[in-house]
Amino acid sequence: MNKITIVGAGRVGESTAQFIAAKNLCREIVLLDIDEGAAKGAALDIQEVSPIFEYDTRILGSVDHALMEDSEIIIITAGLPRKPGMSRSDVLASNIPIVDGIIDGVMKYAPDAILLFVTNPVDVITYHAFLKTGWPRNRVFGQAGVLDSSRMASFIAMETGFSSMDINTMVLGGHGDTMVPMLRYCTIAGIPVEKFISKDRMDAIIERTRNGGAEILALRQNSSAYDAPAASVVEMVDAIVHNRNRILPTVCLLEGEYGHDDIAIGVPAMLGQNGVVDIIELDMNKIEQAMFDHSVSLVRKDLALLKAL
Ligand code: 2OP
Repeated sequence: MNKITIVGAGRVGESTAQFIAAKNLCREIVLLDIDEGAAKGAALDIQEVSPIFEYDTRILGSVDHALMEDSEIIIITAGLPRKPGMSRSDVLASNIPIVDGIIDGVMKYAPDAILLFVTNPVDVITYHAFLKTGWPRNRVFGQAGVLDSSRMASFIAMETGFSSMDINTMVLGGHGDTMVPMLRYCTIAGIPVEKFISKDRMDAIIERTRNGGAEILALRQNSSAYDAPAASVVEMVDAIVHNRNRILPTVCLLEGEYGHDDIAIGVPAMLGQNGVVDIIELDMNKIEQAMFDHSVSLVRKDLALLKAL
């Protein structure tokens, strides 16, 4: 891949650029921000890592949307972050105008790009972008479930002492308190996780996963999580760049899958060079479907707020 643009040179954007460069996923990274110094400073800092980490990706920082031109993937991280005590929905009204300005730039300069959203509330922002661009759903989607699943896998590793590399988790639904951990699909080296963890402890892990973002925000006070969110984005980018056809939880526009449409929410998707190649429909049991439906209903509340803006 030749060029990837990241919009937002805050901590998530900067870490995303670092990981993309270190993994050699493209030849050029453009880091855009309304703060020119922040964009240029981050780009130069990452460029200066290149002799040590041995990559020769060019990294450019700018305010100029025209530099999006010819980008194959555009990752949107820009937006007001949450402050301690705020929910992701609390930043909706402030982040819609920010994202709108960026989408205008994308449509003008990179109309064929794949758009990957990180800005919160990510389910609502992704849906909004799908409507505003009118693009097919395979190239307008968001990151949430890879992060939530990675958090859950980390907590399972911490609980059991097993290598996190052997742990497979799947968290679907909205990126919020109603996310849907699919316990039936959580395994350690292919072995169902219930063999190793009691129900009480698993409930605590699920609760901690749901609060994973808030936990880090409460610890840091002045910043949300950024390393794990950026790594999660890069996992998705890697699947696209290398056309891996990986199954990763992805915020996708639903058209009847899981009994819902006209909403974007986390479902398992196959990611390859065209973005979302396919949405995988799992047979949910009654409890899972009820949790998923509940999550949908809360995202719909935010969609109602969006329509009222
Ligand atoms: C998180 O979960 C910021 O939504 C992001 O950490």
